[in-house]
Amino acid sequence: MGARPQFAKAAAVSRAVANLSQAGRHIVERLLHTGQHYDDEMSDVFFRELNMREPDWNLEVGSGTPAYQTAAAIQGVFEVLGEWRPDAVIVYGDTNATLAGAIAAMQRQLPLAHVEAGVRTNNLFHAEEMNRVVADRLSRWRFCCTLHNRATLEAEGLDDGSCFSGDTMLDNYRHFLPAMDAGVLEREKLHTGSFVLCTVHRAENVDHQYRLTDILDAVIQTQRDILPVVFPVHPRTRKAAEELGYSSRLVEAGVRLLEPIGFRSTQALLENCHLVLTDSGGLQREAYFAGRFSVIPWEYASWPELVEAGWASVGGVEKQVLVNRIAGAPGPRRVENNGLFGDGQAGKRIVETLMSDSA
Ligand code: UD1
Repeated sequence: MGARPQFAKAAAVSRAVANLSQAGRHIVERLLHTGQHYDDEMSDVFFRELNMREPDWNLEVGSGTPAYQTAAAIQGVFEVLGEWRPDAVIVYGDTNATLAGAIAAMQRQLPLAHVEAGVRTNNLFHAEEMNRVVADRLSRWRFCCTLHNRATLEAEGLDDGSCFSGDTMLDNYRHFLPAMDAGVLEREKLHTGSFVLCTVHRAENVDHQYRLTDILDAVIQTQRDILPVVFPVHPRTRKAAEELGYSSRLVEAGVRLLEPIGFRSTQALLENCHLVLTDSGGLQREAYFAGRFSVIPWEYASWPELVEAGWASVGGVEKQVLVNRIAGAPGPRRVENNGLFGDGQAGKRIVETLMSDSA
């Protein structure tokens, strides 16, 4: 793992490992952090809030081009796997750390497991698509969050070794709900049901000036005409917004700009917002777990099952189009427990499958 969304996924698997270990099974898990994310609020906070132990290795790769991040991490993981040969290597999600871990494991001829397999936008130019496709292709075990992901793999001829485990993020969502940090509402003077939670970080949005300005203009208009907006800002987005002169415009309009926030504050905002505006694949799933609709400022659906089930909309980011989409979106609703993302036991299923197959 190396980037923010992966820590939570790994936490669910680590909990399952700890439970099995306590029940007397012999199992050792070691954690490797590539160091792609390194700020306290992008990395350490998740280890604290998700009760994770320190990683056994941190490669401290840091920021740079995708080529640099991937190459440095491949070399680092390769060296670690030369010192310690596990029975299986697990990679999570679709970041550069996922790609690096998958390649290094193969170069060491170690069996690979991919958690969150079978997600596709079917556009290899999206930063994460290649990472997922390669990780899936190289893996002996592919653990899918949804049946749709499982069907995608089957259609690609990757049936063998693929299973519907459910989503580790649902495991975490349920596990940590009683410990959410509701203090964030007081600190930001927010009232239940009366604000929009917004995050934007995808390279496809942030790195294109015309898209980012449209999205940020829509955020400003939402704040003025619809509902207050709370906007924890990813470092990539903060940098781009500052360069375009938008940070001050957002603040002047009254948008609450926050530093990136941890898992427990995010959960409290999700449980109390009216709806979510996000281009994050993880946050839109958590919004669904919280019974909140996601307006996605992107034309592609990473999770088409959420769009089909009426919990998210994809579409254009032209300012007025986006504002109309936000204004027309439904508010909080009850989620029927239909098991779309499993039963909250994905971590356990993943570890038990690996244990029985590696025995
Ligand atoms: C990465 C993942 C993306 C994931 C996202 C979650 C890839 C290809 N992308 O994108 O899939 O959804 O993480 O956040 O792996 N920065 C900091 N502090 C940090 C980390 C980053 O300031 O701790 C800044 C740096 O200026 C860096 C920029 O953010 O250049 C982008 O970080 P990077 O890790 O390259 O990509 P993300 O946009 O975070």
